[in-house]
Amino acid sequence: MAISRKGILLAGGKGTRLHPLTMDKSKHLLPIGSFPMLAYSLCTLLQAEVREILIVTNPEDLNTYQDLFGDGFAWGCSLHYKAQAKPEGIAQALLLAKDFLQDSPCVLALGDNLFSGPSFKDLLQKANAQNQGATLFTTLVSDPEHYGIAEISASGKVVSLEEKPCRPRSCHAVTGLYFYDEHASSLAESLQPSERGELEITDLNRLYLEQSQLTCIPLPDEFLWMDLGTLPALKQAEKNASLWEQQLSHVAPWVALQKQLGPQIQLSLSFLSKETFLQFPEEGVVVQGAVEKRVKDFSSGRAVAHKALHHLGAVPHPLLSSPQGSPLWPKGYVGSISHTKNAVGAVVGKQKAEGSENYLWGVGLDLEVAVPLPEKLHDKILTSMEKEWIQSWTGSFPKALLAKAIFCLKEAVYKCMLPCGNEGLGFQDVSFSIVESGPTPGCFTAKIHPEENLRKRYPTSFQFQSQVALHGETLLALVSLNQNN
Ligand code: TTP
Repeated sequence: MAISRKGILLAGGKGTRLHPLTMDKSKHLLPIGSFPMLAYSLCTLLQAEVREILIVTNPEDLNTYQDLFGDGFAWGCSLHYKAQAKPEGIAQALLLAKDFLQDSPCVLALGDNLFSGPSFKDLLQKANAQNQGATLFTTLVSDPEHYGIAEISASGKVVSLEEKPCRPRSCHAVTGLYFYDEHASSLAESLQPSERGELEITDLNRLYLEQSQLTCIPLPDEFLWMDLGTLPALKQAEKNASLWEQQLSHVAPWVALQKQLGPQIQLSLSFLSKETFLQFPEEGVVVQGAVEKRVKDFSSGRAVAHKALHHLGAVPHPLLSSPQGSPLWPKGYVGSISHTKNAVGAVVGKQKAEGSENYLWGVGLDLEVAVPLPEKLHDKILTSMEKEWIQSWTGSFPKALLAKAIFCLKEAVYKCMLPCGNEGLGFQDVSFSIVESGPTPGCFTAKIHPEENLRKRYPTSFQFQSQVALHGETLLALVSLNQNN
């Protein structure tokens, strides 16, 4: 069975081979396509199912990486940061990560190594399944004197390891992705600096080899591995930028969507279980009450809005939790509750300033009473792409509820778009029409306009593009808004 590993992502070093590009900039910030290099190596760890990651970098670059990647939410992981005072070797990262690892097995990834291949996921799983020793990936290179080299016997066993040898014994280069058991940090403590003054990762791997605890997995011939330490490699990676970007959009859909639509409006809808929701005492009471009294739609909608407002740091209006009142939104916030027969969604938005960006945060709730959307309605509500997407879904969110989730989300998006100051705008107040849909699930351009009775107050209609992605159990939507009269 696969074990849970923590990740270490290296973004330090000197980057001398890329001077002058890296004289005043960390190598891993250099762009490949639309993202900095490190974004792609972060994706390698995400593909290995690692969700707790420590980024190690030079002290002067720490803030930049923190600003770029934050706490990892958008990437679907939890990110931590650690400065490496001086670039004293790759293996030093395991010493710096000792407190973070707390004797957990780990994966160490070099921030300038990129991997792509159809079987990558399988190979990562294979490495992950080894719960003892170290597992490395090797690939054949034509210039072995520039890499850590593994001599491999006919039966596939590693015989020797050498760092940048003058007379290489083989052409099997060790790539920058290392799986270690829980002993890596303590083994690294016994390492001595090499002639070039670094704690060498090859020396650590050799310790595992000496204990017959080293496994090498050769990357298949069709596999693409790149070490971006030199200018020609960087240029080559840039040529393949669309490949890396595509991989990234698969692994970190939320980040890709943000890039695609810009930061105009961001919306995330979580579909929570009742149990999770009840952990929020105030709202929990409302939900519980709603379920019991079978007036779930409206009351639980209010509760969801309540939670969304908390998340935005606003104090909800008392009427939000009153059984009689219609929802009122605190000044500067807009919102909408939408519901279907068995599920509710609430969307709450915060207008930063007149005419500037809007940020939306919302949450939807599928109660345990949620029933799947009847198959016969799928044709009406889902695009063919969405249907295919649902068919191939293997994530933890129940497949049977996916169509419902997409539907609730679309509804919620449609209904929350008009900036209406501090007044609530209900689903009955606006109508929408799809202008265009596709090419990806949840991707559509729609027109939204206020109903007749509101046209005086809200004379404009809006066209917006939305993209939806499912991230774990959270359905994420990004919306970009155009105003047209
Ligand atoms: P290298 O490419 O071996 O070293 P470098 O980045 O300093 O570049 P150059 O050789 O051109 O001077 O590093 C491999 C990866 O490991 C790279 O992503 C940087 C990272 N690294 C650290 O984070 N800390 C270190 O002490 C070292 C040596 C490397």
